[in-house]
Amino acid sequence: MNRTENPLEEVVDEKGRLSMRVLMTPDMVNFSGKVHGGVLLKYLDQVAYICGTRYAGTYVVTLSVDRVEFIAPIQVGELVTFQASVNYTGRTSMEVGIRVLSESLHEQSVRHTNSSYFTMVAIGDNNKPTPVPEFKPSDTVERRRFPEAHQRRNDRIRRARIRRDRRERNPLDLLPA
Ligand SMILES: CC(C)(COP(=O)(O)OP(=O)(O)OC[C@H]1O[C@@H](n2cnc3c(N)ncnc32)[C@H](O)[C@@H]1OP(=O)(O)O)[C@@H](O)C(=O)NCCC(=O)NCCS
Repeated sequence: MNRTENPLEEVVDEKGRLSMRVLMTPDMVNFSGKVHGGVLLKYLDQVAYICGTRYAGTYVVTLSVDRVEFIAPIQVGELVTFQASVNYTGRTSMEVGIRVLSESLHEQSVRHTNSSYFTMVAIGDNNKPTPVPEFKPSDTVERRRFPEAHQRRNDRIRRARIRRDRRERNPLDLLPA
């Protein structure tokens, strides 16, 4: 089976939070026999797309991805779960947080292998950013994540401004802020 065809199995809880699972198969390995980072990035992007599109009710695009750290390698045969939720909304953008858990089926153990934050922008029929429904945190976890996501959004916007100012001074300056 081509790895892009490996299906994500989806569960949605009562609050609309997504949990998607996929079995890591031998076609997904890198040269050291562990799951290839690019495979996980592709699944992360798909999960962020599904979560963002469901929330916004429109097509969404990925604007940025923060902090993808592979804390621990994932082995073939493990069952990987992506838990995704909207943490914060701006006017047209939203932060989708994704927590990745990997389960060794034969050892019956679960590890947290990484968390990442996607900024997705809702796109309207005119192909331009369009408003998203305002996210209002409604439980303890959401209330904890909300100000953290707000802080990350402010940091992203600040860094984007620094990059833009630097590019205006020197169009060849493409280094991250
Ligand atoms: C996403 C995209 C449509 C935004 O276009 P834009 O002209 O910057 O649009 P806007 O200025 O209206 O900004 C849209 C939102 O993105 C946010 N944004 C734009 N640039 C940003 C940056 N560098 N960092 C953080 N946020 C940014 C804005 O704050 C705004 O969010 P808000 O409405 O919640 O405040 C455009 O950058 C794009 O098409 N990027 C390519 C996306 C893509 O191809 N992704 C990969 C394939 S899916």
